[in-house]
Amino acid sequence: MKTYRLALIGFGNVGQGFAQILHEHGDYLASTLGADIKIVAINDLLKGSIYNPDGFSPNELLKAVQNYGKLDSITAPHRDWSTEKTITDTNADVIFEISYTDLKTGEPALTYINLAMEHGKHVCTTNKGPIALHYPEIIAKARNKNIEIGAEGTVMSGTPSIRLGLELLAGSIINKVQGILNGTTNYILTQMENGATYDDALAQAQEKGYAEADPTGDVEGFDAAGKVVILANLLMGQSLTMADVDRTGITGLTPEDIKEAQAANERWKLIGTIELVDGHVKGSVKPIRLPMSHPLASVGGATNALTYTTELLGDVTVIGPGAGRIETGYSLLADLLAIHRK
Ligand code: HSE
Repeated sequence: MKTYRLALIGFGNVGQGFAQILHEHGDYLASTLGADIKIVAINDLLKGSIYNPDGFSPNELLKAVQNYGKLDSITAPHRDWSTEKTITDTNADVIFEISYTDLKTGEPALTYINLAMEHGKHVCTTNKGPIALHYPEIIAKARNKNIEIGAEGTVMSGTPSIRLGLELLAGSIINKVQGILNGTTNYILTQMENGATYDDALAQAQEKGYAEADPTGDVEGFDAAGKVVILANLLMGQSLTMADVDRTGITGLTPEDIKEAQAANERWKLIGTIELVDGHVKGSVKPIRLPMSHPLASVGGATNALTYTTELLGDVTVIGPGAGRIETGYSLLADLLAIHRK
């Protein structure tokens, strides 16, 4: 049995989803997979900061947040530590960087990730900001320090996408990647096809925890563009930036556009693409009208899909959840278990 002590930087939907998984399946993970996983510290700007070297009960953490919106009611030998002190001075050996996403600077997550690596701690993150903007520096430092960086949840939440490309398709020569990479917009488009208004559909996506804190990032295509950059840089060794992605969101689509497509037996989908054009890797995100017969046309709601076009296997497609509390919480478990296997 190997014990993992985790410090969670951020305790929003994703952190709570992970705590829920641990509450419901912690015994299975220990008895079947030999991974004894403890949350020893949480640092959240709004909910508070607590540390217990022996670990907290995930269920009590969840109940505290459900009942009071804060962690004040949790008994803890240490509290109110800063984020930096939580990363450097707790006995955590893995830092979950799950604070808010900033796709313009990657901060403060980038600083936290660097600090964790400097102190010899592995990092698992679902935060697209630092991975989309600074992956080459992060991975260089991680290799230098012999640290593992898990970022599976930055694309398609817990559905295997990055690790599938990085590990299982590594030798298959990936020439093109295309898919539905944003759950919120796919949910909105699906609901609008069923007669909902744009505003109602967006409000539902926010309620269900799919949307970013600022949903402009979803509907204007920035979130999908970040994922395009992540896939290009992690899987195809590129150094694309957000500015390199030709990006259009869904806000220009009217209910009439959607009806017109339906009448023609077609569907609008926000499609992210990475492909080789004249020897250069190009990334784009744009709404495309697909015939119903297209495999991506039938992917509805918050579900995402990704097709790797490879030389050795042809097309390999994975379809699964792209957002959500448990779904994204699961990606952290997948990253942690990858460390466990090593
Ligand atoms: N806001 C994102 C989405 C969350 O809707 O897909 C997952 O990255």
